[in-house]
Amino acid sequence: MCGIVGAIAQRDIAEILIEGLKRLEYRGYDSAGLAVISDDKIARLRRVGKVAELQKAMADEPIDGKIGIAHTRWATHGEPNEKNAHPHFSNDEIAVVHNGIIENYEPLREELKSQGYTFSTDTDTEVMAHLIERERKSSDSLLQAVLKATHLLEGAYGTVVMERSQPEKLVVARSGSPLVLGKGIGEMFIASDQLALLAVTRQFMFLEEGEVAEVSRRDVTILSPDGDIVEREFEESTIQHDAGDKGQFRHFMMKEIFEQPTSINNTLEGRLNNNSVITESFGNRAPELLAKAESVQIIACGTSFHAAMVAKYWIESMVSIPCNVEIASEYRYRKTVVVPNSLFISISQSGETADTLAALRIAKQQGFMASLTICNVPGSSLVRESDMAFMTRAGTEIGVASTKAFTTQLTGLLMLATALAQSKKTLPESEITNIVSQLKRLPIDINEALSMDKRIEEMAEEFNEKEHCLFLGRGEQYPIAMEGALKLKEISYIHAEAYAAGELKHGPLALIDQDMPVVVVAPNNELIEKLKSNMEEVRARGGQLYVFADKESEIAENNGIKIIHCSASSHYIAPIIFTVPLQLLSYHVAVIRGTDVDQPRNLAKSVTVE
Ligand code: G6P
Repeated sequence: MCGIVGAIAQRDIAEILIEGLKRLEYRGYDSAGLAVISDDKIARLRRVGKVAELQKAMADEPIDGKIGIAHTRWATHGEPNEKNAHPHFSNDEIAVVHNGIIENYEPLREELKSQGYTFSTDTDTEVMAHLIERERKSSDSLLQAVLKATHLLEGAYGTVVMERSQPEKLVVARSGSPLVLGKGIGEMFIASDQLALLAVTRQFMFLEEGEVAEVSRRDVTILSPDGDIVEREFEESTIQHDAGDKGQFRHFMMKEIFEQPTSINNTLEGRLNNNSVITESFGNRAPELLAKAESVQIIACGTSFHAAMVAKYWIESMVSIPCNVEIASEYRYRKTVVVPNSLFISISQSGETADTLAALRIAKQQGFMASLTICNVPGSSLVRESDMAFMTRAGTEIGVASTKAFTTQLTGLLMLATALAQSKKTLPESEITNIVSQLKRLPIDINEALSMDKRIEEMAEEFNEKEHCLFLGRGEQYPIAMEGALKLKEISYIHAEAYAAGELKHGPLALIDQDMPVVVVAPNNELIEKLKSNMEEVRARGGQLYVFADKESEIAENNGIKIIHCSASSHYIAPIIFTVPLQLLSYHVAVIRGTDVDQPRNLAKSVTVE
């Protein structure tokens, strides 16, 4: 989604803005721009495409200043062209960058037009620029003008506003899209993500929903939506400084795949006893709330939704309580039924996904017993607004295709199912001890799965010319097959679909021929014989099978079957282990096809609009 950077300093800041935008590149965008105040004017530069294009333009037409705002745009209203790229102006006085969607932009636009404002873009953001300029005329300060304007806006925004005649202040506002302030020595920065500012500061302060703030080089004045002063301190960030470097790897995605043993170790760290999961890892009130929970509702989007689906298999089989799972964008718009003592869980790597956040806010009105979020970003909206939070500690994930964020979510969810089973005594103690020792083995088993990389790379060659692919799994491997298909389509642009293997005969079998690769996730479990029959159905119709299986699954490489052996030491952790070869497969296929692995077309890392 859109990225925002702002700065106000005694030194020239254009390079800082560009560096910040580059660190936000992973979020996905189609154009970039910046504006600074220089010689009493607002100077602006915008380009379609990568930040590198903007940087090149800056070399040709140097602009610099001590105050400025910058933006990477992911188009919602209006094509991704230079005209629609931010910052947007009103009367060369006000400049605005914005992340989000203004839902009532059409009536506002008509009103502003009738008051003499001319529009030069197709964006919803330009409405904000004119609205603020209009309100400024009857306000003592830009801060008050922005506060008044926000009361007229419907929708979501994270915004930074600059005024030509006030080159010592920026005004920021947020509602539904994140904004963080960063403090340097005698200078101040703003961004939509802390990562953008790690090169210049580690002191951060988040803006809360509906707040508006005036930012000068040394001070911040925050107002609540009602205009009252809010006191808040800057805090030291714990994010690693090198999070934005690829190290020895060609792509962030590969770096992040190989970081999984370490990330999972971090997820587990300090949260397991010898023979149990420490229930307080989910929050101080978790022992009481988990014991009371009689059902669970999980909501999420994208990859996080697949983690939720695996959790359903775990929770229902280990804890014997109902677990409903739903995509957030559906949940938020339908009438749902909440049963007593139901726990609401959101899963999100970013903690800012607009649909997930909206679903949480609705859930809070619906009478759930409590809310828990499984999240990777401390201080994110979901973490702040949930009653309990379990931080997955995956570390910053830059590749748009989620990898280590997913396996750490799964690890946290298996710990949650185990903690629930402990508190409800639905599994014998010996089984809990067994799961805990499997959890502790995870980093070793993942390392083993990673050692298949070379063989998977060779296998990937066979997908180069393909346009379609099917993924099959059964039981808790069905969501893993869905995740495998999502990874392949996201980064290689091959059309991929996943089916629960038992569904083959109800439709997808019609697609099978020699051009249709079929990837099967086949650990040795109680469904393996059924899965083998499904594989035979594919083979009999000339389909080419690519199977990831345990040695104990006893599937032989044969005409039409290629096997890669993986091993998971128990069926509980098998979904986590079998995710890894599917990540590697989609990575290598994408590299062979020459796509933009870390920033696939049209996608964004953190989807802060509907
Ligand atoms: C985007 C990302 C996906 C992610 C999904 C949900 O589509 O590209 O990788 O799974 O959002 O994001 P969340 O941050 O809520 O997990």
